[in-house]
Amino acid sequence: MKKIDKIYEGKAKILYTTEDPDLLIQHFKDDATAFNAQKKGTIQEKGIMNNRISAKIFEYLGTQGISTHFVKMLSDRDMLIKKVTIVPIEVIVRNRAAGSMCRMLGVTEGFQLASPVLEFCYKNDGLGDPVINEYHIQALNLATDAEVKGISRMALAINGHLKKFFLKLNIELIDFKLEFGRYHGDIILADEISPDTCRLWEVGTGNKLDKDRFRRDLGNIEEAYQEVLRRVTS
Ligand code: TMP
Repeated sequence: MKKIDKIYEGKAKILYTTEDPDLLIQHFKDDATAFNAQKKGTIQEKGIMNNRISAKIFEYLGTQGISTHFVKMLSDRDMLIKKVTIVPIEVIVRNRAAGSMCRMLGVTEGFQLASPVLEFCYKNDGLGDPVINEYHIQALNLATDAEVKGISRMALAINGHLKKFFLKLNIELIDFKLEFGRYHGDIILADEISPDTCRLWEVGTGNKLDKDRFRRDLGNIEEAYQEVLRRVTS
C-alpha cells in the first residue's frame, strides 16, 4: 500500500490516502507539543515508538472485542488504518487524578478516584479543546445520543482492558485520551494509544513513563517511551 495524497497533518501524525478509498496511511512524527502547542519540541524516534506501541495496543483491544481503525503496520512510522470520520470529541478516562483534573478541581496528583471519571472535550485546537458535557454534544450536533452512549460504554470497557494490559507490564494506567470515528454506520476506536495520549506510572516507583516527562521537562523522555515499547512488545 502506497501513500498518494496528504489529506491531514496534525501535531503528531500525518494522514495519507491510498489506492483503496476505505483505507488511509497514518504516519507518526517525532514532533511533540504540549499545552495546546504553546510548548514545542522533538522526541527522538517517538514516531517509531508510538507507531509500534499503538499497533500492539490496537491488536490487543481487537482480541478483547473492541473495533478499531487499525489494519496493519506498514513500516517503522506508518500504519494502515480504516478511513473514518472523526467524531470531534476527545474522550478522557481517569483512574487517578493528574494533569488538568488537578488544576481544575484542586485535587492532589495521584489521588485514587473512587470510580473512573469519563470526560469529554470539544476537539478544537483554536479553543484549546474545552471540556464539554453530553448536553453540549447534543446541542451542537457533535454526536447523536446513541453515539455518545456507545462511545462512553466503549471508553470504559477500554479502560478495563488497558488497566489489565498495563498492570501485567508493571505499569499503572492513570488516565488516557481516546478518539472515535464513524465507519460505515459503526463507531470504532481511532487515532493512537501511546505514551503521548496516556499517563503511565511504573508500579512501585511511581516513575512517569509518558509525555509528562516532556510537558514538565523531567528528562529521560526517549528512555521512558523506549521502556514502554520494550514492555509492550515483550
Ligand atoms: P489532561 O490531564 O491534560 O486533561 O490529560 C488527560 C489525558 O489525556 C492524559 O493522559 C494526556 C491525554 N491528552 C492527550 O492525549 N491530548 C491532549 O491534547 C491532552 C490535553 C491530553
